[in-house]
Amino acid sequence: MTRVKQIRQIFVFVLVIMQSDIGANEVQFELGRRLFYDADLSINGTMSCATCHEQKRAFSDGNSVHPGALGDPAKRNVPGLANVSLYKNLTWAHNHLSGLAEQSLMPIRGTDPVEMGMNGYEDEIGKRLGQNACYKKLFASAFPEEKGSITLSTVSRALESFEKRLISENSLYDQKKKANQPLATKEAREGEKLFFGQGKCSTCHSAPLFSDDDFHQVQPHESVVKYGFRDSGLSDITHNPKDKNLFRTPSLRNVTLTQPYWHDGSATTLIEAIQKHDLRTNRALSMKQISSLIAFLETLTDNSFVNNPDFSKPSKECP
Ligand code: HEC
Ligand code: HEC
Repeated sequence: MTRVKQIRQIFVFVLVIMQSDIGANEVQFELGRRLFYDADLSINGTMSCATCHEQKRAFSDGNSVHPGALGDPAKRNVPGLANVSLYKNLTWAHNHLSGLAEQSLMPIRGTDPVEMGMNGYEDEIGKRLGQNACYKKLFASAFPEEKGSITLSTVSRALESFEKRLISENSLYDQKKKANQPLATKEAREGEKLFFGQGKCSTCHSAPLFSDDDFHQVQPHESVVKYGFRDSGLSDITHNPKDKNLFRTPSLRNVTLTQPYWHDGSATTLIEAIQKHDLRTNRALSMKQISSLIAFLETLTDNSFVNNPDFSKPSKECP
């Protein structure tokens, strides 16, 4: 990533944090939060966004892949949602989604794979939620210009409003950087040096997001057939052979909470996840070096983010 791009990313990062503190629409946020935890967004009422995106795991889940509401096989590992509003490219391998509102329609009514299973039943969402007095009130005050109508459009905008606040910037690493202090342990400091230096990790996992928001091929092999899917990454969207097996660099913030790893959940541990990188991009590392890298990655865990009561399942009481 170029210096200019990196400075821009840091600037946007600070700006969004400021905006999320002052300008955001409280009602849209509260509404989005309720919707995020509501299984009525799925065909058989069994699956909410939070079924796959659990706060305690930084909004990822513990499965390699998570089947859909009707048991359809899944394709990819559930990514965490920390700082998700700061990415231009959403998901493991897409470069044309306009933003979080559009993205939220993929799990709701997508068919590749089927997740919440509402394809063809979109009107059902408005009917179900419209029976609930609290939702009627919240939609009316969150979307006065839409006269409180409950549609996929207002649902997805409210979800976006919730997701915009999912900012994680208070890990031990951030605290030390802000205080201009070194990391606490020698091992973590060695890992940090390797990460930003010789190990070249930060060329792709660049701070502050610990992702360059760009696509790379770091697996040595051709696309893998797994769970009945052939996943060729970005080229499945662009149909450009040059994009074959390219995946967006995942953020390493909260990475100790988001196992298993890789787009197909094929790496169980951090050791495996690091070792799986192609040797052409990532020269062989000793076990000692890998341990120090992991000690560094542990400092990226943000406990205040995963315990923030504002992001947890809301109480039944109407706000
Ligand atoms: C069945 C599990 C499942 C459910 C339910 C689910 N997701 Fe996801 N989510 C995923 C997977 C898997 C991906 C990665 C998809 C890909 O890369 O193609 C993902 C990706 C995302 C992303 C992109 C993250 C990034 O780093 O770019 C966002 C945002 C998101 N989901 C939000 C939601 C919202 C909002 C809902 C509810 C409307 C939801 N998800 C429901 C599994 C799920
Ligand atoms: C050329 C870019 C690049 C470099 C250099 C790189 N990575 Fe990655 N890293 C990626 C991409 C892309 C993935 C996702 C691969 C996939 O799922 O197919 C990834 C995945 C990971 C994961 C798994 C994260 C998750 O949520 O699934 C970890 C951990 C990781 N990298 C750590 C490192 C470390 C440590 C280094 C330095 C030794 C490093 N990476 C160097 C691009 C890179």
